[in-house]
Amino acid sequence: MCGIVGYTGHVQAAPILLDGLARLEYRGYDSAGLAVRNGSSPAEVVKAIGKLYHLADKTDQGRALPGTCGIGHTRWATHGDPSMVNAHPHVSGNCSGSGSGTVESDVVGVHNGIIENFTELKEKLLRHGYSFYSETDTEVVVKLVDYYYKKYKIGPVDAITRTMVRVRGSYALALMFKDYPEEIFVARKDSPLVIGTSEDASFLASDVPAILKFTRSVYYIDNLQVGRISPGSVKFYDLNGDEVQLPVTEITWDTAAAEKDGYEHFMLKEIHEQPKAIRETLGSLVREGKITLEETGLTEEMLRGISRIDIVACGSAWHVGMASQYVIEDLARIPVRVELASEYRYRSVPLAPDTLVIVISQSGETADSLAALRVAKERGAKTLAVVNVIGSTIAREADHTLYTLAGPEIAVATTKAYSAQLIAMDVLAVQLAAVRGIITEEQTAGYLAALEAIPDQIGRILEEKERLQWFSSKIANTHDIFFIGRGLDYAISLEGSLKMKEISYIHSEAYAAGELKHGTISLVEQNTLVIGVLTQGNLFEKTLSNMLECKSRGAYLMGLTTNGNFSVEDSVNFTVYVPKTDEHFLASLAIVPLQLLGYYTSVNRGLDVDKPRNLAKSVTVE
Ligand code: M6R
Repeated sequence: MCGIVGYTGHVQAAPILLDGLARLEYRGYDSAGLAVRNGSSPAEVVKAIGKLYHLADKTDQGRALPGTCGIGHTRWATHGDPSMVNAHPHVSGNCSGSGSGTVESDVVGVHNGIIENFTELKEKLLRHGYSFYSETDTEVVVKLVDYYYKKYKIGPVDAITRTMVRVRGSYALALMFKDYPEEIFVARKDSPLVIGTSEDASFLASDVPAILKFTRSVYYIDNLQVGRISPGSVKFYDLNGDEVQLPVTEITWDTAAAEKDGYEHFMLKEIHEQPKAIRETLGSLVREGKITLEETGLTEEMLRGISRIDIVACGSAWHVGMASQYVIEDLARIPVRVELASEYRYRSVPLAPDTLVIVISQSGETADSLAALRVAKERGAKTLAVVNVIGSTIAREADHTLYTLAGPEIAVATTKAYSAQLIAMDVLAVQLAAVRGIITEEQTAGYLAALEAIPDQIGRILEEKERLQWFSSKIANTHDIFFIGRGLDYAISLEGSLKMKEISYIHSEAYAAGELKHGTISLVEQNTLVIGVLTQGNLFEKTLSNMLECKSRGAYLMGLTTNGNFSVEDSVNFTVYVPKTDEHFLASLAIVPLQLLGYYTSVNRGLDVDKPRNLAKSVTVE
């Protein structure tokens, strides 16, 4: 949901800002803009509609914009359509037009987040003589800062903190003030923001990969803090304007992790990185054959004391929750409910200290998941975050954090982070079962051996990807796809269906196979593609019958099952096999062909696989 960057130093800012925005484009790509200061001359603002290359072309890859201090933005529209006038940066001046060109304004800013009370604030500013050129909440917040700055004749930090106490919502804001030519001021609440410094330059961004090429020393600014950034140094302040010290974190992973590395798309690269993501996540949780959750702070005694688990998440992370529900209930015999974070946060779910609320999130910044975490904490439950992005808000606010080690995930459609989350939840399920005495040491060792074999098994599935590539070329013009399965296979279907629809734009739905005939089967007609997931022995025949009911009504069938179930070929038109493993863990294998199917279908349809329309990687608005 929008990406912001900033640079102040001694070399030309615009090419650095464009480079950073290119690495954040996954966060939004309907328009982009830059504002750059050249010494004490006014800011030059350039905006362009559409993907980032339009802005790069307009500025000759940044070379046409002189100046060593600047901010940039890539937008995912929330308030107002994607247009020049609504694109960021926004300016405080009462200008006509879109606020671009050389602007004499006192304050220029970019913003990621949502200001909920912007209408009320806009009315206040209108009464004080401000006028507005855009429909955005950002223009309002920039003008509010300007208003306090002039009314009280205070410095930027005080003007910003006054603004922060008036606005409701979420923001990562980066502002330049006319009177402070080499400085950028930032503020944060509930939207991600990192600050980096090198010897003689400083950087800011919504995400680490945007600045990693220039520095490895970063600060994670906290909620309701302000930063004053100058070349090579940064100071932080709390809401009272008092200076606070923040620790510097050295980033140890490599920029290569955020490059395509010869693959045509990030998604394909990330699909291939799944064995590594799983190995590393497992390696951090299982040492010398023993599960260790030490780093999460969850003790065996705590695990024994849990009487209910609520798993809360959004999108694919919610699908991980759906899969884990079957595994935890079956292995550890603890009741589990799986909730969409956007619903959970507004429900009056009664919680007790013996309830463990698990929030699963790749980004650790998803607005609804964060809100659900806070609700769970307020109501007295114990909270565990299963998060991929180190230092993210959800990771920092949860009582306990389990990091998945998938590395940076760039494609909007998640693959390796999903797989790392699944494995982490499987390990947790085994540990819950073990410490509660439900499974023996020998069984525990057996489950761990099965989990450890998964990376190589995924490698074998990937070796046969050409079959999926061929099949996807056959289905590329299909209008509707149904993914069906029961139990764990239903959870796999949910994720398979999302992978297909989000990047191929083919309408697709996932159904619990037995539920189809309660209404939805009326949509099945000649050649409707029905993909049945058949990995669970006790449910195999039931789901197959449901597939045949669809076939009788004209459906074209694909079956996804484990090696050895060859009889399925008598009933379906196309079969995909995955290796056998313990049935609890089959989601980790069965999802891979479905990811490939979604990927190749999107490629065959000529779509932008990594940046599908209307979506953003990190959903920091509710
Ligand atoms: O960062 P999170 O895991 O909290 O994101 C949750 C969803 O937005 C995310 O899983 C989304 O559904 C994926 N892009 C789907 O591929």
